[in-house]
Amino acid sequence: MTEASLLKQALRSVVAGQVKAAADTWRPNWHLAPPVGLLNDPNGFVQHQGRYHLFYQWNPLACKHGAKFWGHWSSADLLHWRHEPLALAPAEAYESHGCYSGSAIVDNGHLMLIYTGNVKHPDGSRTAFQCLARENAEGEFDKIGPVLDLPNGYTGHVRDPKVWQHHDYWYMVLGAQDLSLQGKVLLLRSSDLLTWQLLGEIAGSGLNGLGPFGYMWECPDLFNLSGADVLICCPQGLPAESDHYLNTFQSGYFVGQLDYDKGQFSHGDFHELDLGFEFYAPQTTLTDDNRRLLIGWMGIPDGDEFYQPTVEHGWIHTMTCPRELTLEAGKIIQRPARELCQLRGEVQLWQGIAQEAPVWDITHAEVEIVTDRPFHVDIGGELELAWDGEWLRLSRNNRRSGEREQRVWRGALRHLTLMCDTSSVEIFINDGQAVMSSRYFPVLPAQLTFSGKQLIVLRRWSLADCVIE
Ligand code: FRU
Repeated sequence: MTEASLLKQALRSVVAGQVKAAADTWRPNWHLAPPVGLLNDPNGFVQHQGRYHLFYQWNPLACKHGAKFWGHWSSADLLHWRHEPLALAPAEAYESHGCYSGSAIVDNGHLMLIYTGNVKHPDGSRTAFQCLARENAEGEFDKIGPVLDLPNGYTGHVRDPKVWQHHDYWYMVLGAQDLSLQGKVLLLRSSDLLTWQLLGEIAGSGLNGLGPFGYMWECPDLFNLSGADVLICCPQGLPAESDHYLNTFQSGYFVGQLDYDKGQFSHGDFHELDLGFEFYAPQTTLTDDNRRLLIGWMGIPDGDEFYQPTVEHGWIHTMTCPRELTLEAGKIIQRPARELCQLRGEVQLWQGIAQEAPVWDITHAEVEIVTDRPFHVDIGGELELAWDGEWLRLSRNNRRSGEREQRVWRGALRHLTLMCDTSSVEIFINDGQAVMSSRYFPVLPAQLTFSGKQLIVLRRWSLADCVIE
């Protein structure tokens, strides 16, 4: 299909669907969501000339996965966002089945996008091209075309380029599947963004002391944090364990050291980034003031996603809140980006026996719980969070099967921060030591109801809207 006709269809879909989507009571107040259709991965997260740019995998035509476009928002402060011209539509033969995930960089003052052109063949096989596009004076993106074909030794699943600069070169990590159907991360190097040299596999299933670890690794991201190199990736195909890998696909990281000359990454164990029901495909960027920010997709690509009730209103999925990453004792700590404090209204304080706590409205609120004693809290009649002195359990009824399901964290609990929006809760444990992100669809206004006979200390702020213009 031509670009003009794709854009006309996208426009029709937005014009026809936006009023209904905006009127949905589960529309988030301060999280980013698509105007209509399906949003998945954050793409091209970058700060350029004082503005943050966040692109997103978007199917504006339906609440389904498919030939993805790149939507585009920008913001000076991570709080007030602006719709920008649609960045990429899958119009060319080399991206016929989607302008898949990728990243943004600034080259000689120009914003550039590097993304995967995904092509599916009639026999069910696929191929992938890594492609380049450059911003023009209108804030639109001109496609330069493919700069890298499928490397030898891999299936058509090679995608999600994340590019950064180091000394005199550009480097790229790519998610890949080798011919034995093992998930890998490839490292490549370029001096001009146009020709790329494959340095090798830096991590993957069966590499660097890791046993079998999935059939495909998606959305890698590699960056330096406090002197260590961190590789984020999303392995697919890890069997669930009792308290790990409970979602259909995983998202986690390795801490190590990248040898740029040898193209080798020595690393420690895999750690999950988020223990909630909905979290995948995060992407990070370095800010002008040297913070490493992360935004994830508050969704998981599995059949269950389409049981979310917003589908009836013609939209599905949101981003997580922006988070600041630090490395402490070899582990990533995630905290809500400090800008979000500006959304806070007046603070409410309460302390006493859990079951006597006031029932608070948490439709758009931040709630802090300080205790190391057992308690139980009902979140909007849809989620239950229980701490028994050893395990923190988040449970709900599965939206497809109705069966009870839970996600868990084990440790010494001291402190929780619940970042609540109309249809999501992000739970930061012990000031960011672990996070649980989940969508939920409560009866509104959503309420927080405690039980338990032990002492808790609570603080609550209502949160103002994040405006999208
Ligand atoms: C991850 C992912 C990526 C791909 C994109 C397609 O959610 O599958 O690997 O580029 O989504 O939308």
